[in-house]
Amino acid sequence: RMYEREQLIRINKEAGQFFYNELTQNKVHTEASSYLNHRGINQEIIDKFLIGFAPQGWDNLLRYLSNKGFSPAIIHKAGLIIPRTNSTGYYDRFRNRIIFPIINIQGQITGFGGRVLDNSLPKYLNSPETPVFNKSRTLYGINTARQKSRETGIVYMTEGYFDVISLYSHGIENTVATLGTSLTDEHVRLLKGMVRQVILVFDSDQAGVRAAARSIEIFCKQNMDIKVLILPEGHDPDSFIREFNSDKFKKKSENAKHAMSFLTDEAVKKHGMSVEARLRIIEDMKNPLTSINDPVARSLYIRELAERLGVDEAMLLQRIGHSNFAPP
Ligand code: UTP
Ligand code: MN
Ligand code: MN
Ligand code: MN
Ligand code: MN
Repeated sequence: RMYEREQLIRINKEAGQFFYNELTQNKVHTEASSYLNHRGINQEIIDKFLIGFAPQGWDNLLRYLSNKGFSPAIIHKAGLIIPRTNSTGYYDRFRNRIIFPIINIQGQITGFGGRVLDNSLPKYLNSPETPVFNKSRTLYGINTARQKSRETGIVYMTEGYFDVISLYSHGIENTVATLGTSLTDEHVRLLKGMVRQVILVFDSDQAGVRAAARSIEIFCKQNMDIKVLILPEGHDPDSFIREFNSDKFKKKSENAKHAMSFLTDEAVKKHGMSVEARLRIIEDMKNPLTSINDPVARSLYIRELAERLGVDEAMLLQRIGHSNFAPP
C-alpha cells in the first residue's frame, strides 16, 4: 500500500510536468495561453501554481506516461485515464482543459482540476477519489498559503481555483479553497493548527451565502474564530480583486463581520423584526449557537443576540440551550 501511494504521487508529478510543458513549451496551444492571460495570470503565477494544459486528443497523457514505464492499471488508479466502454483500452480524462494541480502541504500533487476554455459543461472536472486524493481532506492552495497563514494567523477560505490564484497574485497568499464540496471537519483540522482566524469569502450569490452558513457551524464546533467578508452582489474574490484592488479587498476584510453577526443579519433580512420574526430568528440561530463548543464564547453570543432582539437573556439561554442542557 505504501508503495502504491508513492507510485501514485510519482505518476501525478509526471502528469503535472506533462501538462505544464504543454502549456509553457508547446506553441500550438495559443488559446490556453491567451485564456490565462485574459484572466490576469502571468508566467510567474503559472510557475508558482504549476498550471498546465491538457491538449485535445484521446491519449496524449496515456502515451506520455506509458513511455515513462507506468502501466495502464496504475495510471487508471491515479484517475488520469478512463476505461473505454465499447472497446478495450483507456482514454485521457482531462482533454482540452486548463489544468490546476492540487498540491498537498508536503508539496506533492495528489490530484488535478481542469477548466474548459469556453462556456461548455462541466466547467471544471476534478480527479476522482484515489488512494492519495480525498476531496473532503483537501484544500486547494494549502501549500502556497501555509507560510503567510502562519505568519498572520489568518487564512481566507474561498470557493474556487481562480479565487486562490488571483488573491495570491495580488499579494494575499494566505488563501485556500474547497474543491466544489462542502466544508468538512477534516478541512477544519488542516487549518486549525495553522491559524487563529478564518475569513470566509464566498461568492456573493445565494449558493455562497448558504455555503457560508453551513461552514460556520462546522468551524464553530471546533472553536475556530470565523469572520465573513461580504462581496458586492455577483462578485467572487477573483472578480472583485481584479475589478478593484488588493487595498479594497483588505479594507473589506478589516470590516468583515463576525460569523454570528453575519448569521443574525441574514436571519433579520429574511424574517424582519416583528415579534413573530424575532421568534423565527431565534429558531434560525439555535443551531449555530449550540455549535459553539466554547461555553464562554457561546454565552457571549447569546447575550449579544438577546440585546439585538430585545429579549431577556436568561430566557434566550433557556431556549437555545434546551437541546444541549436538557435535564434528565
Ligand atoms: P464557481 O462556479 O464559482 O467557479 O465554482 P469559479 O471558481 O468562480 O470559476 P471561474 O471563475 O468561472 O473560472 C467554484 C468552485 O467549484 C468547483 C471548482 O472547484 C470551482 O473553482 N466546481 C465548479 C467544480 O468542481 N465543477 C464545476 O463544474 C463547477
Ligand atoms: Mn459560485
Ligand atoms: Mn466563483
Ligand atoms: Mn470566478
Ligand atoms: Mn489587479
